[in-house]
Parts: sequence; C-alpha cells; structure tokens
Amino acid sequence: MPVKEIEKNPSLHNGTLTEASQTKQSSSPKLAYIESYGCQMNFADSEVVASILTDEGYQITQSLNDASLVLVNTCSIREKAEQTVRKRLEYFNSIKKDKTEMTVGVLGCMAERLKHQFLEEEKIVDLVVGPDAYKDIPNLLEEVAQDREAVNVLLSKEETYGDIAPIRLNSNGVSAFVSITRGCDNMCTFCVVPFTRGRERSRDPKSILEEVNDLAQKGYKEITLLGQNVDSYLWYGGGLKKDFIKATALQQKTALRFENLLALVADAQPGIRIRFSTSNPQDMSVDVLKVMKRYDNICKYIHLPVQSGSNAILKKMNRQHTREEYMALIDTIRQLIPNCGISHDMIAGFPSENERDHQDTLDLMDYVQYDFGFMFAYSERPGTLAARKIEDDVPDEIKKRRLSQIIEKQQAHSKIRTQAFLGQTVCVLIEKESKRSKEQWSGRTTQNTVVVFPKKEFKVGDFVEVKITDCTSATLIGEAVELSKRV
Ligand code: SAH
Ligand code: F3S
Repeated sequence: MPVKEIEKNPSLHNGTLTEASQTKQSSSPKLAYIESYGCQMNFADSEVVASILTDEGYQITQSLNDASLVLVNTCSIREKAEQTVRKRLEYFNSIKKDKTEMTVGVLGCMAERLKHQFLEEEKIVDLVVGPDAYKDIPNLLEEVAQDREAVNVLLSKEETYGDIAPIRLNSNGVSAFVSITRGCDNMCTFCVVPFTRGRERSRDPKSILEEVNDLAQKGYKEITLLGQNVDSYLWYGGGLKKDFIKATALQQKTALRFENLLALVADAQPGIRIRFSTSNPQDMSVDVLKVMKRYDNICKYIHLPVQSGSNAILKKMNRQHTREEYMALIDTIRQLIPNCGISHDMIAGFPSENERDHQDTLDLMDYVQYDFGFMFAYSERPGTLAARKIEDDVPDEIKKRRLSQIIEKQQAHSKIRTQAFLGQTVCVLIEKESKRSKEQWSGRTTQNTVVVFPKKEFKVGDFVEVKITDCTSATLIGEAVELSKRV
C-alpha cells in the first residue's frame, strides 16, 4: 500500500464530533483526538484505537483544543515522515503548556522504533504504544494517571484486532478499509516495516466477513482489504505465517489462501466493490488473477511495487524477484485481465545504484506503462540491513535528479493511460465532491483512476455510467449518463 505522508487537516478546530461521539453522548465526555500519518493500515489502525477508546467512555473529537487525550499514529518509512510527526509533537506540547489536563501519546511505527526514547530522552509524550499493543491503551492511560511510565511496544504473534469493530473516522460512508494481515516477513533491506510491525499473521476469515457484511449493511460500497503483503494471506487457525510448516496435516490441507478469501468476500457482497493492497510480486499468484477475472465486483487494479528495474539493485534490496520475473507477471496480468490498472512504488538512489541501474528502472517503466505510481528518493532507516551493510553513497542531488526523471516518465505514461479512456463510458463509484468544484462529483473507475463530472441528480454512493470527454494525466473528465448496473 502506498505510503503517503498525508497530514490530516490540522486546522479542523470546529468541534465537529465524529460518528462515535454522536452515538455515545454523556454529560461530561472525555474527548480524544487522533491524528494519523503514513499508510492506509495506520488509518485503519486508528479506527481500531477509536473503538477501544469509545469503550472506555471517550468521544472522538476533531477539535484538538477540546481534547484531553491527543494521539498521533505515526509513520517511520522515511526520515521525512518522522520529521513531520516531530513537528506536530512540538506543536501539541506548545498547546499542552496552556492546558491543565492533556495527555499526548505516540502510536504506530515511530513508537515501535523509538520506544522509551520518547519518554526518557525527549520527554515530549506521556504514552508510547506500538502497533500490536492498542488493546493495552486503557491500562496505559491508568499508568499515566498514576504518573508511571506508560510504554507498550511488544510485538505479537497473534494480534490481528479481528475482535474489534473499528469506528470509522473521517469516513465518506462509501469506502472503508478492512485489515486482513499484519506485519511483513519479506525483509526488503531498505524497509523498516518488518521491525516496526513484526512478523506476518493473518486475520480469521470469519471476522473479516463479519466486518464486510456489517459495512455493506451500513451502506458502504467499496471495501479495500489491507495488509503489507495481502497475497501472502494464510489462515490455518491463527499464528504466524512462518509457523505454518509446524501446522497439523489437517490445518495445512484446509488452510485458506488469499484467492480463497477474495472469492469469499466477493461472493458475500456482489453489490460492493472489492479492492486490495498491497501485492508483492513474488507472492501474487495466477490463482489470485483468475479470481479477479471471475468476479465483476473485484476491481481490476493491482498495486504492484517493484522498487527498481535493475537486477543488481533488486538483489541488494532483497526483493525476491528479478526484473524478468516481474515483467513476466505483468505479461500474465495483461493477458488475463487486459483492462487492469497497474501502479507501482519506486525508489530512486538506493545505495550503489549507478546510471545503468537507473536506466533499467526507466526502461522497465516503459515496458509496463503504469497507470500511476508512488515514487521516493531512498532514505536510510536506522536498523535496517541496508543501513547496517551498505553505504548510502548516492549523493542527494543525484537521487533527486533520478527521482524527477522517474516522475516525469510516470506522468507521460499516466497521460497515455488516461487518454486511452477518451470516448469510453466507464462505471464510476461517486465518493465525494470534487476538490476543484462544488458542482462536480469525484469518484474512481474499477482501475482506480479518478473521474470528475457534473453532479446532476446523482449522489455520493451511486454507481454511475460516465462518458469520458477529456483528461489530464491524473484525472478523467466526463459526463454522467445514467445510474450504472455494474459495480
Ligand atoms: N508492502 C508495503 C510497503 C510499505 S512501504 C505496503 O503495504 O505498501 C511503501 C513504499 O515506501 C515501499 O514500497 C517503498 O517504495 C517505499 N519505501 C520503503 N522504505 C523506504 C526507504 N527506506 N526509502 C525510500 N522509500 C522507501
Ligand atoms: Fe517493506 Fe518489503 Fe515488506 S517494502 S513492508 S519489507 S514487502
């Protein structure tokens, strides 16, 4: 799943209360404010935290100034992501000075990575909770109240939060995330995630289906199944993926894989769009592609990070695939699902990357012609294998130049991809008002391409047929024709 360093609008000081608070009013509510950074999983985790807090009598507020508990769900993926959070923590502390009662807590990957450092050296937070320890928040708040150290960064073999019904935050009532796996075993040498989110484990399909059915009943129209590595989903009764070899013969025989889960979810709610993210090339099977092809309601879109087009670099990154294997997978996708949208993550300037390696990346992009991508300059992360073993030797200016070339190429390809839709009529799920105009809706095609068009009589949550008349490199522009019979 693409990691975007999105900042939730910090200037929302209007005191609006979310769903949770509107349903659970009490005379003197304790108010909690949660800000999330980073990947979609973090946003989904914050909804789990909101649920745990609501059970403790908290209401979730969007007003930072009213809150007695301020939590920030953090991202460690690149240095810049951590800097953004640090600035916010400084700001929270400046507010705290003027208030009698305010607890500040750090959740997520930075909590896991920096652990006690936040309390002992930096003294800028009261509470530190890693991604697997959210159920301990009530106890930790008690520790804070008793003026004791409140840190829990234990990683778990089982925790999937399958028993917690998330409280949707900042929801449009149309799209929702459902976590299906946690952690990552891939150990790409540049990546901090295996250290901050622990080993891979899958969530009970029963609880996934319950959540999906509940969302459908509440009127949601699009569900994204989430995991660091969704294609490696494996349910054999609980436990770590790496312990599957120790499972009983019966457990091994009856285990449920990603393609099975995808089919179950798609069958359960044929009127709802199903998406998933993220797919890792070495784990994506032809069986998954066949299920995607079989079900109309599984979106024809795959986020398939590659990181580099050079075999030498892929090897140093410990990616478990070569350039040729990746290209063969792209060929299979195009063959089975010709209209599939494909996006990527790419890293420019991984240690030792030379101009030929970089050219290989650009050539691979030409081969695939991705619909869009998430592109980053390499950022060394303390503790990763790359940081320990390979010198970060590509100068910043070169990283930046290579990154701009990658971005430029992507923009050209995106334009080709969007232009291919001109004149077509596509099915769009209306998600929200367009940012550019109050008169227009914004939604996405099955390929995940954004479409904007005049509102007419249609409403958020409608599937509509839209005739595409114009485009930019990122957006399709069109005219809604009628309600769609497709999803
Ligand atoms: N499998 C995960 C990947 C999370 S990280 C998922 O669910 O998306 C998202 C992307 O951030 C990676 O694919 C990679 O392109 C980028 N990234 C990770 N570590 C990085 C680093 N140290 N420097 C620059 N980019 C990085
Ligand atoms: Fe990170 Fe590679 Fe896993 S990018 S999240 S270690 S697949």
